Amino acid sequence: METKIVRKWAMPNKNTFSIKPVKDLICKYLKGKWIDPFANESIFKDRLITNDINSAYNTNYNLDALKFLQQFDDNSVDGILFDPPYSIHQINEVYDGFGKIKQFSRYAHEIKRIIKPNGYCISFGWNTNGMPFEMKINGKKQKTGFYKEKKEILIVSHGGCHNDTLITVDQKYNSQLKNVILSEEIITEEELFNRYEEETL
Ligand SMILES: C[S@@+](CC[C@H](N)C(=O)[O-])C[C@H]1O[C@@H](n2cnc3c(N)ncnc32)[C@H](O)[C@@H]1O
Repeated sequence: METKIVRKWAMPNKNTFSIKPVKDLICKYLKGKWIDPFANESIFKDRLITNDINSAYNTNYNLDALKFLQQFDDNSVDGILFDPPYSIHQINEVYDGFGKIKQFSRYAHEIKRIIKPNGYCISFGWNTNGMPFEMKINGKKQKTGFYKEKKEILIVSHGGCHNDTLITVDQKYNSQLKNVILSEEIITEEELFNRYEEETL
């Protein structure tokens, strides 16, 4: 999979999803059951299941994001918008002190568990790490189910001394597929995956 990378310019906005190129990107993927654990006043609140720890926002749930994610069954959502606070400074200055910076792996663990095969996670922030390909679970390195390559990266520059907003789209591969037909030969999912890894090293 080759990563599509696009750069656009737009005015900054406290509500990331209201920035036009960001909004357009989300609209492209938003089909089926999507959830937003850090929704704030999301412009998409009528189109997905929303949560925010701050009860001032009119979201479906007002839970800590981790607890919100833990409620969903395995392989049960088509996509997740993952837009946690980027820094302690942002929590205090922009979001009235609501929120905590949690260990990323705790979120990643839930996210990979609940997204359906072929589903997406769209991450927002100041880096393009997105969802990892591998992570340590109980001290053991394991594949998360997300492709190594990103599906798409959108860079939104805001001019002046503002940081860019970086949006990273990750897709989960179809880990339920046991045998895959590739160029008319039948190979196991593991073989396919090993080839994929060799090709992308
Ligand atoms: C970066 S903003 C999300 C902005 C939103 N995506 C938008 O475009 O408007 C972070 C939001 O996450 C909420 N938040 C912070 N920590 C949280 C947590 N642990 N659980 C749930 N919500 C949290 C804050 O109250 C804030 O509204």
